[in-house]
Amino acid sequence: MIKAKITSTAHYVPKNVMTNFDLEKMVDTSDEWIKSRTGIQQRHIVSPEEASSDLSTRVAKDLLLKRGISAEDIDLIIISTVTPDHFTPSTAAIVQKNIGANNAWGFDLSGACSGYIYGLETANNFIISGKYKKVMVIGVDTMSSILDFTDRDTCVLFGDGAGGAILEPSDSESGIVDSILHMDGFGGNFLHVPGGGSRIPPTVDSVKKRLHYIKQDGKKVFKFAVKGMADVSERILAKNNLTGDDIALFIPHQANKRIIDATSDRCNISKDKVLININHYGNTTAGTIGIGMNEAFNEGRIKGGDYILLSAFGAGFTWGSILIKW
Ligand code: ACO
Repeated sequence: MIKAKITSTAHYVPKNVMTNFDLEKMVDTSDEWIKSRTGIQQRHIVSPEEASSDLSTRVAKDLLLKRGISAEDIDLIIISTVTPDHFTPSTAAIVQKNIGANNAWGFDLSGACSGYIYGLETANNFIISGKYKKVMVIGVDTMSSILDFTDRDTCVLFGDGAGGAILEPSDSESGIVDSILHMDGFGGNFLHVPGGGSRIPPTVDSVKKRLHYIKQDGKKVFKFAVKGMADVSERILAKNNLTGDDIALFIPHQANKRIIDATSDRCNISKDKVLININHYGNTTAGTIGIGMNEAFNEGRIKGGDYILLSAFGAGFTWGSILIKW
């Protein structure tokens, strides 16, 4: 049976940094509240001329450089995002043109905070089919484009960024070992952007009512996120006869340090094996796991033969885990 393995990783975050102290000047919040409730200290925010395709293009070029292949070698580009440049064309099409991937087709995938895991699972199956040899997956979100910087419930939580990988057929044990993915549309109203789509097309009134920004019931989302992420992480370990001790690195979605701690505690994964970078970036939605994976790789925290566990929970609700043998 063919496996898909990750042969290149990269990430990019915009240069501008917004600290908790900057937010204190914009809404009624404090560095202390944000840090203690979420673990976030700062986030990166795009400049006015940057959009999701620009962050993705930087990641795509870096992925090719690190792998030592040309853009024309790529068969398929999958961009996971809830903040595409446009409804159409897809961000994947823009990235394809920007890098000159003339032999690739592709599409955008909307999985919110689970977008990177959904993207990896999709790429995995395209590789396993035997038809595709080099698939690029990028998780990107420009959350600042849908953040209401007058709403303290949401604006302190998110940031902008992108992370990605190239997947190829594996000729060894290494590759994606297993995945468990879920979705429950029951969660739709607890975390959503009400306006701008076909349900509420943009009008002067919809803009006045601020319907194009992300809204959430934080407490509800928190409760479901802790349960969803912990349950699915525990299940994928049990299904593969592994325990937390067997995991060399856990790379969770970075929404809230307390959600990450609850999940790693339930799976008995010791704290030194948990990747946490929420303090630097906030929640970059589809960006978090790809950013974390590349940072971990650069820091030498991932070695051949290691078991790596990825888990996420997000809007939809969507959630899931992927187990990788590196
Ligand atoms: N600064 C100061 N006070 C605030 C802020 C803020 N930025 N935001 C909310 N508050 C206030 C509220 O108004 C409320 O006040 P009240 O009690 O007088 O009504 C109080 O703080 C809420 O405090 P807590 O209940 O203690 O806050 P909680 O511990 O629930 O933390 C948080 C809130 C951080 C939003 C948490 O619920 C959370 O992380 N939820 C998950 C949301 C999330 O991450 N969504 C992103 C996408 S989904 C995902 O990625 C998993």
